[in-house]
Amino acid sequence: MTRLVRPDVALRASWAATVAEFEGGHIDGSGLGDLEDLDTTEEGCARAVAHLLAQADPATRLPEDRVPCSFFWIVDDRPDGEPEVVGHLAVRHELNAWLHELGGHIGYSVRPTRRREGHAGRALALALEEARGLGLDRVLVTCDEDNEASRRTIERNGGVLEDVREGKRRYWIDLGD
Ligand SMILES: CC(C)(COP(=O)(O)OP(=O)(O)OC[C@H]1O[C@@H](n2cnc3c(N)ncnc32)[C@H](O)[C@@H]1OP(=O)(O)O)[C@@H](O)C(=O)NCCC(=O)NCCS
Repeated sequence: MTRLVRPDVALRASWAATVAEFEGGHIDGSGLGDLEDLDTTEEGCARAVAHLLAQADPATRLPEDRVPCSFFWIVDDRPDGEPEVVGHLAVRHELNAWLHELGGHIGYSVRPTRRREGHAGRALALALEEARGLGLDRVLVTCDEDNEASRRTIERNGGVLEDVREGKRRYWIDLGD
């Protein structure tokens, strides 16, 4: 079952395998692009986890261009019952000017070998609950105009298109009941 789990060194092996599948490319919703080097050893994973968890901690002094953000690993169970990382997801607690224009509140990606299994759709639904828990009334979620998988993920979760800016489709999802 798809679930959102806070980054945890106990999940290092499948997290590292997930990261490897992106072959050094950008991993949407991972927060890993801000690290100096992406090291997936035990030590590197511990550093990444500490960094990611700190982004949601009010005690952390964030750089000017960063807003507080809760990072999650999208997890599913393997046939043997062991939890396995299948993707990354970020819930930004607020919008700055760039996020309002293009980035949105929520970013995500699923590892290439686990796509088209419904993980993104279910993960976004769970992320909406997290956003509601943060007190947000509505969230902005964006995708590239040619990203059909992400467009469908957003629309299936109630996204209402506001407009397209610089090639990004900007959707609002109402969290009211
Ligand atoms: C976008 C992404 C997260 C979708 O992940 P996923 O787990 O494969 O998505 P799902 O299985 O939940 O499918 C979501 C919908 O997209 C459709 N879909 C999935 N892959 C598709 C593809 N390659 N082409 C067209 N439609 C696709 C599914 O059929 C489903 O549609 P439905 O809800 O109408 O049935 C994944 O492709 C990805 O990680 N892409 C790279 C990063 C990225 O683009 N992130 C989003 C940034 S805005």
